[in-house]
Amino acid sequence: MIRKCLFPVAGYGTRFLPVTKSMPKEMLPVVNKPLVQYGVEEAVDAGLDQIGFVTGRGKRAIADHFDISYELENEIAGTSKEAFLTDIRTLIETTDFSYTRQNHMKGLGHAILSGETLVGNEPFAVVLADDLCLGEDDGVLSQMVKLYRQFRCSIVAIEEVPMDETYKYGVIKGTEMKDGLFRVEDMVEKPAPEDAPSNLAIIGRYILTPDIFDLIKETPPGKNGEVQLTDAILKQAKDGCVLAYKFRGTRFDCGSVDGFIEATNHVYQHVYKAEEAAKKVTPLTASKPDKEAESA
Ligand code: UTP
Repeated sequence: MIRKCLFPVAGYGTRFLPVTKSMPKEMLPVVNKPLVQYGVEEAVDAGLDQIGFVTGRGKRAIADHFDISYELENEIAGTSKEAFLTDIRTLIETTDFSYTRQNHMKGLGHAILSGETLVGNEPFAVVLADDLCLGEDDGVLSQMVKLYRQFRCSIVAIEEVPMDETYKYGVIKGTEMKDGLFRVEDMVEKPAPEDAPSNLAIIGRYILTPDIFDLIKETPPGKNGEVQLTDAILKQAKDGCVLAYKFRGTRFDCGSVDGFIEATNHVYQHVYKAEEAAKKVTPLTASKPDKEAESA
């Protein structure tokens, strides 16, 4: 059974400078929720209620977001504005959050290794919060957890990307076992189109078995001098079995400005407005009188 989900959030987010100079990229709002909350909700929906963050300097806002804010909550208690905090309050009450720090940004592999103390010796999921994933029916992590129960090995989420964009991703070569499920034979980190073994790109959702930690320890820095997670996963694939799963749903690359704007437009039109119509959210523009004003 998988209970834990690791969020590496220590990166600098340089593509969003200057906003990320003093604000974590993961706290950028997609409509009215920070990116990282979408990822945490997806994990919790998949039954993962132990969330571990690998943070770094300047990322305190993330820990504050997943904690009670006494002063604010006291201030709006009994007013219509309280409804804005219902979802995050429920998350805080039902989920465990723990934190560790990555002192040097030595790449995603190194960030995952920094999370070993939070994970221990059990399988776990990884979410890169800047990939916002909206599942077709189940969330993407829920789909992957179901697969893990069946196959008991590491699984990476993949999607088809245009050939001229392979340089942005880890790209797999694999044999299709059944519809959308591949056995990984090779992986190349950020290949030029002519070197890419396919157009099946790894996106920011993983399920990893705990032997990955020892494999990362043996992995020398690769592309860009960073310890690449894909190098360690490739060793797992060569020694045993790693699956790549073409998930059902849509991913937005919110680590890039274009993807972030696309996600914002999509969520506003298809999620936020739909929930508003179903009266699940109070419109952001509404300014209902609070208790004091009503009784005055
Ligand atoms: P990215 O390369 O997309 O994020 O890493 P970044 O470095 O923050 O962004 P840019 O490229 O400078 O704009 C993918 C994920 O891995 C985390 C990042 O926080 C992000 O969630 N990461 C990356 C770490 O936690 N530590 C690292 O050393 C590198």
